[in-house]
Amino acid sequence: MATIVVGVTGGVAAFKAPIVVRECQRAGHDVYVAATQASLDFVGRSTWEGITSRPVVVDIAGEGRAEHVELARIADLIIVVPATANSLAHLAAGFADDMVSLTVLASDAPVVVAPAMHSNMWLAPATQANVRTLRERGVHVIDPTSGALGSGDSGVGRLPEPELIARQALAVLAEHQQASCALAGRRLVVTAGGTREPIDPVRFLGNRSSGRQGLAIASAAAHAGGSVQVIAANIESALLSALPAGVQVTRVGSALQMRDATIAAVARADALVMTAAVADFRPEVASVSKMKKDPTNEDVPTIRLIRNPDILAEIGHSEQRPPLVVGFAAETGTDEEILAYGADKAARKGADFICLNRVGESVGFGDVPNDIRLLDASGRIVGRYVGSKDEVATGLVGHMASFLDSLKR
Ligand code: C5P
Repeated sequence: MATIVVGVTGGVAAFKAPIVVRECQRAGHDVYVAATQASLDFVGRSTWEGITSRPVVVDIAGEGRAEHVELARIADLIIVVPATANSLAHLAAGFADDMVSLTVLASDAPVVVAPAMHSNMWLAPATQANVRTLRERGVHVIDPTSGALGSGDSGVGRLPEPELIARQALAVLAEHQQASCALAGRRLVVTAGGTREPIDPVRFLGNRSSGRQGLAIASAAAHAGGSVQVIAANIESALLSALPAGVQVTRVGSALQMRDATIAAVARADALVMTAAVADFRPEVASVSKMKKDPTNEDVPTIRLIRNPDILAEIGHSEQRPPLVVGFAAETGTDEEILAYGADKAARKGADFICLNRVGESVGFGDVPNDIRLLDASGRIVGRYVGSKDEVATGLVGHMASFLDSLKR
């Protein structure tokens, strides 16, 4: 049984919302109703209280505020039905001046929104932009249908049948519940960030990896119920502190430190995901004092580099290898070239999968969208994830969960 909050806003289609509540109850769920003041002109308190046997939550002032945040906390699913043009704007902009928008803002539960309004309002560029914003954020917006509208006109903007809304919303809930335990009982190690190879106490050889993709994978794995350890190389503290509670972070600086920490961590792990950009070379000698220029001549120092261990290849081919090993390859070049590099890498490194990440001017590094092709050990493309780093992470984590499940059988 899940806890569902039905948020009702002030449109004439509100009369259909009690059926959505009833369908959710019939599926065995516990339903609370949060209503905007305006919606009570369409369906009153006594209806809601009669159906749910509990007070409808309307006021955000005073005692109601604590209760409202409580609703957001306990919700496993929020259904906003009907959602007026005004409430869509509220949700998109992040307002919190009524019970419905405040509950959505304060909750991390999946949200299903069923808009209903006059066609002109639905088709207005502002409304369409709000719908796009909500969808981009992962809100499930159920398109209105065409037909007779409350105003007497006809066109697009009608609320779909409440049974259909309930069915779609319950499917979203089931999918979310399934996804949130896909990695239950699994231990994952995710390396992230970029190593820094010391030249002297103040200088290093580094790279431009922000660590964002690795942290997105760690977050998605934690949200899927996995127990996650991140080996973080030189990642901004603000990014690390945004990780979900329970994710363990081990900070490292250089490739050698990352190697030791990763080998120690994978001993008990089900999966290793090596997103970190590990330097292939390091200065043979790191000067113990700061290197100085000699003012009396134009000499420049020569820094001799030596190879770093390849952590992925070492673990991929070792006895301690976790059942699932995933590597990353950031490559530049034509499609054909990068696929050939990726296939070669998968084989060489002993990885089950390589995430092939094309880097260029506006993809790959930093706070930008990603485009990842997943290659298996034989170099075959078995998945492609395009979108924000969170979307890519969710896709990859789903694939990892299925792979680990397939090993059990
Ligand atoms: O060979 P390349 O650096 O392109 O391989 C990238 C993959 O190998 C990444 O998963 C990276 O984390 C891993 N790697 C490693 N140790 C290195 C270099 C790369 O584990 N020294």
